Amino acid sequence: MPRSEDSHSLASRVRQLTAEDHRSAETASFITGLMGGERSVRDYALLVSQYHFIYEALDAAAETLRTETILPGVTALLDPKLDRRSAIQRDLATLLPETGLSCALVPMKATVEYVERIHQVANDPARLTAHHYLRYLGDLSGGLAIARLMQRHYQVPDHQLNMYTFESIEKPKLYKDAYRDQLNRLGLTVEQEETFIEEAGFGFGYNKRIFEELGDYADSLTPMTV
Ligand code: HEM
Repeated sequence: MPRSEDSHSLASRVRQLTAEDHRSAETASFITGLMGGERSVRDYALLVSQYHFIYEALDAAAETLRTETILPGVTALLDPKLDRRSAIQRDLATLLPETGLSCALVPMKATVEYVERIHQVANDPARLTAHHYLRYLGDLSGGLAIARLMQRHYQVPDHQLNMYTFESIEKPKLYKDAYRDQLNRLGLTVEQEETFIEEAGFGFGYNKRIFEELGDYADSLTPMTV
């Protein structure tokens, strides 16, 4: 049995123990509306603009920890192929002007707190890898569905969907399986595994609050139908 399928493994436990947090985040009305074609490209641009702040922090933290950690399992997990910064910049370069958004990006309050949290735990392998798992495995899962739906509902072109295009990852499913196996080989202590799971729960909380705040913010702007 692959290690990730062992129900006691870290990969299985975090998935089971955060299933309710995941459901609660993915059913935020901003997200269901966006994915259901009831919102606009501008709201997609607002979402990507939050990712700008998050990945500036997360990619940089991963880059640093990758070289500084003494745990080889952690170094192996923090794969530079996942880095999203330049992809997001390319998306926003046209998304913002085309949707009438100012190039001065507005972070939601929850985004600011999420970024602060990533900075706070940047040197803690268990907590930082929890944020890593959450964002990148999420992007390689639901993220791919978001990209397809943005294309279908709002005709967002490929050059504005780089956030969800992992050029160096040919088969996301295989990559995710290998990532989960790597999670199980991080070399964390039992206590560290508990902090990993706790931090993953916090991470879902930040993401859910970002969706809620984005919904209110988007609704306060002049309606747009693109
Ligand atoms: C925005 C709406 C979302 C949708 C539609 C969605 C959808 C999905 C789907 C369908 C999977 C299952 C993939 C599989 O079994 O291989 C998945 C997995 C995952 N999602 Fe989401 N998701 C969303 C939001 C989020 C958020 C906000 C996060 C956290 C930041 C997240 C983190 C994850 C993670 C970490 C996994 C992998 C679970 C694992 O196999 O260990 N998702 N998502």
